[in-house]
Amino acid sequence: MERILTKKIQQDFPLLQRGVAYLDNASTTQKPQAVLDAMNAYYTECCANVHRGIYAISEDASARFEAVRDQVQQFIGAGHREEIIFTSGTTASLNMIARMLGATCSAGDEIILTEMEHHANLIPWQIVARERGLKLQFLRAREDGEIYAEDLQALCTPRTKIFALTHLSNASGYRTPLAELTRLAHEQHLLVVVDAAQSVPHIPINVAELDIDFLTFSAHKMCGPTGVGVLYGKKALLERLEPAFGGGHMIAHVTLEGSTWAELPMKLEPGTPNIAGIIGFGAALTYLSQIGMQAIEQHIHQLHTDALKKLTALPGIRILGPKDHSTITGILSFAVNGIHPHDIASVLDNEGVAVRAGHHCAQPLMTAWGVSATTRASFYFYNTEEDVNRFIAAIQKTQQLFLP
Ligand code: ALA
Repeated sequence: MERILTKKIQQDFPLLQRGVAYLDNASTTQKPQAVLDAMNAYYTECCANVHRGIYAISEDASARFEAVRDQVQQFIGAGHREEIIFTSGTTASLNMIARMLGATCSAGDEIILTEMEHHANLIPWQIVARERGLKLQFLRAREDGEIYAEDLQALCTPRTKIFALTHLSNASGYRTPLAELTRLAHEQHLLVVVDAAQSVPHIPINVAELDIDFLTFSAHKMCGPTGVGVLYGKKALLERLEPAFGGGHMIAHVTLEGSTWAELPMKLEPGTPNIAGIIGFGAALTYLSQIGMQAIEQHIHQLHTDALKKLTALPGIRILGPKDHSTITGILSFAVNGIHPHDIASVLDNEGVAVRAGHHCAQPLMTAWGVSATTRASFYFYNTEEDVNRFIAAIQKTQQLFLP
């Protein structure tokens, strides 16, 4: 396999020096030293609250913090910096947008989701639907595991208001045809909310070109720290929404009787944010941009292709996700006949290979597949062909141990 990126990259990641073949990147990614240094620099050089202090270290902290908003804007191709709202993660972003959009709906209005959603893009809508008397409809995957634009059309009624979907399923690795689905949803006057927790770290995304209304993702799945997420929303839409959460920093004027809101993005960022984490996220974006998202996508695709070929050459393997090499994006979910996924993950752990086994917070998809769990290997740009080979050898060893 001709390598797009080399093993040398692993030297930037302290934890990868310990020799583990880390293949649980859909869960969280490893952090390069540059990210750790940026967070440490905030605490040692300018530890103060942002936007509040009229003194040098607070102004320094605010400048480092706000520079990350510009970076995120550029990274996802947003038109305005105030369209970038910092949250504590994709789950918080999805809860926030579900709550804010839900407040604009009337009883009987409908929301379409897909059956492959992570619980983070299902449960917030269930809660809002229960509170406000809304109806959830589900776009089902066809036999080939894909969802299709014409099926979306068939679900739409005059009461449908919102379409919320994953861009890249964390459980299966299926990539939804986002551009086509968004175009069709807009023809039906739906607002489109995208869970891009798995796609923004893996592939170049441009929200303006895709014309997405709202997009959510997390820093920790793209070399940043935990506890930082983004809600992107078109400015005109965010301006019209009432905030879901209140507190300091998000107001224009407060009386005992009521309050008015600050401009975006403050309106949607109450309280002290994860300042160190957001500054660390900025270092992660710089790091990823230096490598280049196209190179990252190609490298992950190469590794996934190699792993898929080698895994399917083994007996008793069932792939629970895309088998078409042109559509794979780094998430390889599978079952091994006669061996429970937790046993597989345990043997792999003994061999120094870290994977995830379980329902991957996507129980409805597991139900549709007729399984309770899968084993999942997920790749990132710092993985190597050697990691793939260790993974395959460990699966063979598992089969030797468990099968007669
Ligand atoms: N959502 C993360 C995963 O899929 C935790 O593993």
